[in-house]
Amino acid sequence: MLDRYTYQSALAASEAIHWRIEDIIGGEKRLNFTLPFMPESLAHTEPLTFLTKEEKRILNQIRGNAYLCIFGLVEEFILPFILDHARPQLRGDDYRVRALLQFAGEEAKHIQLFKRFRQDFEEGFGTNCQVIGPPEAIAAEILKHDPLGVAITTLHIEWMVQRHYIDSIRDDQELDPQFKSLLKHHWVEEVQHAKLDTLMVEALAAERSEAEILRGVEEYLEIGGFIDGGLQQQVEFDLQSFEEASRRTLTEVERDVFRRVQLRANRWTYLGTGMTHEKVLNTLGWLTLKARQRVESVSPAFC
Ligand SMILES: [Fe+2]
Ligand SMILES: [Fe+2]
Repeated sequence: MLDRYTYQSALAASEAIHWRIEDIIGGEKRLNFTLPFMPESLAHTEPLTFLTKEEKRILNQIRGNAYLCIFGLVEEFILPFILDHARPQLRGDDYRVRALLQFAGEEAKHIQLFKRFRQDFEEGFGTNCQVIGPPEAIAAEILKHDPLGVAITTLHIEWMVQRHYIDSIRDDQELDPQFKSLLKHHWVEEVQHAKLDTLMVEALAAERSEAEILRGVEEYLEIGGFIDGGLQQQVEFDLQSFEEASRRTLTEVERDVFRRVQLRANRWTYLGTGMTHEKVLNTLGWLTLKARQRVESVSPAFC
């Protein structure tokens, strides 16, 4: 084993930090639409020099809404995947069963939190912002893949959340405190998920030959390609939402710049930050060095 993660310690940490949806959203806990939601390192609005300060904030908030909605989407495949992983060994290690069910319960709670957030966003923002979906169809497509490929995708997503929060969000004092609080509460539970994902990837790879492991890695890259197609669609949605919310029609040249800058920003946010995460690469390298090298050969396209 690469890192000394255990089901018992992940469960204990999770029980110690547990929070309720009602404690973090609703009542006085409202979004402040005069402030940005996302850090600039993920939103990338500054390179769009033809936008005013206010227009950049509008785009930033559109990106923030898509960010939480896309997490809601991916957690719809993580939830059944974890339950399927837990089910064959319900009579085995008690800590394993409890830690995985706790993980699934937290993802169900996050899905509900993001739906609740979307209600607040739609009420306050004033423009309907389309997001890729539907979640069931995306989950069904991802779950068609090799379980090892799905497990590596989950590992990627949960370490990616760690990186976003620690590197870009935690110390950014410009962000709306309510949006930041949602990200913080999500992050603090995802810490345990990333460790449990590591155990899951190791367990799924344990019985496999190198060729079978590399097949799982190819399926992970295929899932990445599928997500990338979704991101290209999301950029088009964000462009439409931006023009509607700002009541400004961009020129064709401006639209092209918007698409190029925002596709790069989306690829970095959802693909590059996970594919280049040192913990993800360490786990892949521990399976086989070729797995790490294969992902490292592809990741520059998303950075
Ligand atoms: Fe989550
Ligand atoms: Fe998670």
